[in-house]
Amino acid sequence: MHNQYIFTAEVPSNIALIKYWGKRDLALQWPENDSLSMTLDSARTQTSAQIAASGPDMIRRADSQGVVTAYTSGSDKAVRHLAFLRRELGFSAALEITTHNTFPTGCGIASSASGLGALTLAAIAAWTGSASLTELETADFPRERLAYLARMGSGSAGRSLFGGYVTWHAGSSPSAQRIEPLAVDWPLTDIIVLVSRQEKAVGSSAGHLSVRSSPLFLPRLAGLPARMRLVEAALAAHDLPALGNAIEAEALEMHAVMLSSEPRLDYLQPRTSEVLAWLRQQREEHGLAAYFTIDAGPNVHIICAPHTAPEVVRRLNAAFPDLALITDRTGQGPLLYRRPTH
Ligand code: PMV
Repeated sequence: MHNQYIFTAEVPSNIALIKYWGKRDLALQWPENDSLSMTLDSARTQTSAQIAASGPDMIRRADSQGVVTAYTSGSDKAVRHLAFLRRELGFSAALEITTHNTFPTGCGIASSASGLGALTLAAIAAWTGSASLTELETADFPRERLAYLARMGSGSAGRSLFGGYVTWHAGSSPSAQRIEPLAVDWPLTDIIVLVSRQEKAVGSSAGHLSVRSSPLFLPRLAGLPARMRLVEAALAAHDLPALGNAIEAEALEMHAVMLSSEPRLDYLQPRTSEVLAWLRQQREEHGLAAYFTIDAGPNVHIICAPHTAPEVVRRLNAAFPDLALITDRTGQGPLLYRRPTH
């Protein structure tokens, strides 16, 4: 047993540039389409795992105010994922888990991606006694396998197990799925405009199941391969206007599908639209090279080059003094380490 150590995983969030929205198979987590994301850097979940003296599994989650809630019941997504990992991998030891995010949860910053990713890494590290990602690989857990296991907890979590830009290929069958990093080295900044910190009323799990009720979904699917090629070419060429135009069209299209689904999913708020109109005006009148994307929430991610970011922040603060900003950038992916319990 490895109970003299605490194993800690830090897994970043990611922002999808081509969105995963819709599942072909719920049980196998098979997406309707390929997606592509940028791994973030400072928006992370830090999760520690330790072998417990006796069961059941216990997850203690601290919120941004430091208030800790303990979970042992199967209704919690993380507890269910732990049970899945145990079934799939055959480990029996109960775990004590503590976890917190470095950003507010449930507001359109993908806490499920970083959260389920960090839980996967920390739990398997504790079960196998692995002190690093290299040791996990030696213990028969290479990165692709970890990404598969994380993806089973939350689809987008699989993409958070690599750094830089990451593609999740849907493949022609559930077992043909692949998650892999792109050979692109292009640091970009993501300025997250917090239009709202409220928990969203409808989580992504329900939304993934209603996509086909939208008359816009099949035309979207038909057009996505061409958009994917555009985004990949723009990333390879470091062509920000080409990337920006493609990701803005992509985000608006996903929200058009959401808004035309049954039941309707309306994540956007009046201030979301204000920020989008403002950004367009800044580009047209001041040549500000910055572009938006939006996830399943009202907050706006503004993507720009690192040297443009201070100017974008200055102008945002002047135009929207009441809105908080989180500035993040392209990150290198997860970390794993261990320390003695005493
Ligand atoms: O991983 P899930 O089930 O929370 O779905 C994520 C969906 C989006 O964030 C809206 C898009 C994406 O690809 O991350």
